[in-house]
Amino acid sequence: MRRKESSARDPIRQPKVLHPLENENLRLLILENISQEAVRAFESQGFQVDHHTRSFSEKELIEKIGSYHAIGIRSKTKITQRVLSAASKLLVIGCFCIGTNQVDLDAAAEAGIPVFNSPFSNSRSVAELVMSELVALSRQYFERSWEMRNGRWNKQSKNCYELRGKTLGIIGYGHIGSQLSVLAEAFGMRVLFHDVMNIMPLGSARQVEHLAALLSQSDFVTLHVPEIPETTNMISTRELRQMKKGAYLINNARGRVVDIPALIQAVESKHLAGAAMDVFPYEPAANGDPFDDQLNSWATKLCSLPNVILTPHIGGSTEEAQRMIGEEVSQALSRFLNYGSTISAVNFPEVDLRAITAEQGNYIRLCYVHKNKPGVLRQLNDALAPYNVEKQYSDSKGDIAYVMADIADVSPSDFSKLRDRISNTEASILTRFLA
Ligand SMILES: NC(=O)c1ccc[n+]([C@@H]2O[C@H](COP(=O)([O-])OP(=O)(O)OC[C@H]3O[C@@H](n4cnc5c(N)ncnc54)[C@H](O)[C@@H]3O)[C@@H](O)[C@H]2O)c1
Repeated sequence: MRRKESSARDPIRQPKVLHPLENENLRLLILENISQEAVRAFESQGFQVDHHTRSFSEKELIEKIGSYHAIGIRSKTKITQRVLSAASKLLVIGCFCIGTNQVDLDAAAEAGIPVFNSPFSNSRSVAELVMSELVALSRQYFERSWEMRNGRWNKQSKNCYELRGKTLGIIGYGHIGSQLSVLAEAFGMRVLFHDVMNIMPLGSARQVEHLAALLSQSDFVTLHVPEIPETTNMISTRELRQMKKGAYLINNARGRVVDIPALIQAVESKHLAGAAMDVFPYEPAANGDPFDDQLNSWATKLCSLPNVILTPHIGGSTEEAQRMIGEEVSQALSRFLNYGSTISAVNFPEVDLRAITAEQGNYIRLCYVHKNKPGVLRQLNDALAPYNVEKQYSDSKGDIAYVMADIADVSPSDFSKLRDRISNTEASILTRFLA
């Protein structure tokens, strides 16, 4: 008996690049100085790109958005309900940043528009900042540097320590906390972590069930949790007392997870040897704006404490993080425009299909966004019944549902009938065909 030759020798099957069947050339509006690499990547795919370094006001957006199929923004451009009402052709929104508060996510979903962002591309940058803060705090070099700038030589080793052999307590072992764990072990630290989830530790790190146990054993405690009601002021007077005398607290997570007046008290009383803070309950809106008692009533006191490092929310601000944000969001936009995939959208059901290969020449891909109501799939499947549906996947999120289906051998005249039938279903929000 002879086996069929291994398919491993077949050339790799290339996914076919799909194009909209009926839309005119896709136009992208890119604002707020998004990376040139991202702009070039869009242009190389044949998209027509208009890019600007500034953000647009609501009025400007309302005037212009009607001719664009996609928009890329950072945090200053607000995509409101009014903007979305004027966005008759808009298919997708890319937030080239971490947050998506600047977009009315529900209104976008109701209009059939997925929103993509890049929530974790700066994890490494934050983890590295924490490593630098651990060294800076335990060697007190912020103080020494400040003294030298004031003309004072003050060489000392008292209360200055190596990190090797010390214990780092990480609260929140997600994207940042877990990366930090690996870096800290490379410095010879012992790592404990506390998380509400049971998480497989990396390296020799150890999960501790109770926060108090982590606090009482750690030389450094660092926070990497989201800001949610359960984490608001999760480090306050009681928790600070549970920390070792002479320990340090680091917060690069969100401003409200630490009770700052309680922290000031703990440093003033010398229970803590120092702290590093990158985030604050109220942060100035723009560079150059004051960080003072009008913004946060305790600001002057905090700024006067020795061995307390204060930074203006720079944890994720590196060139590398910006580049990764550019790559991640531009790829998500292209995947959606070219293939219909909504994987990682923040406001939308996440749906994807295996690629159509170059050999499967006459397939068309249906991307059908509809209201999440009973009976819609029956209507859709009735319309598709005469054809061979090669693959189909659907999911819903709240009131919105999304179906992707690859259909074989649809002739051009059948295509226009199918398009009219599906896009005229009562629940249809947006129907697209790619081929
Ligand atoms: N300073 C900056 O510039 C900067 C940059 C990026 C992220 N951040 C902030 O850092 C924080 C962590 O980010 P991430 O990407 O690692 O998030 P993540 O979602 O990957 O991880 C958060 C972890 O916290 C855990 N958690 C939630 N509630 C908890 C609780 N009550 N007790 C213990 N653990 C809890 C979660 O289970 C999760 O494992 C977020 O607040 C984020 O906004 C700050």
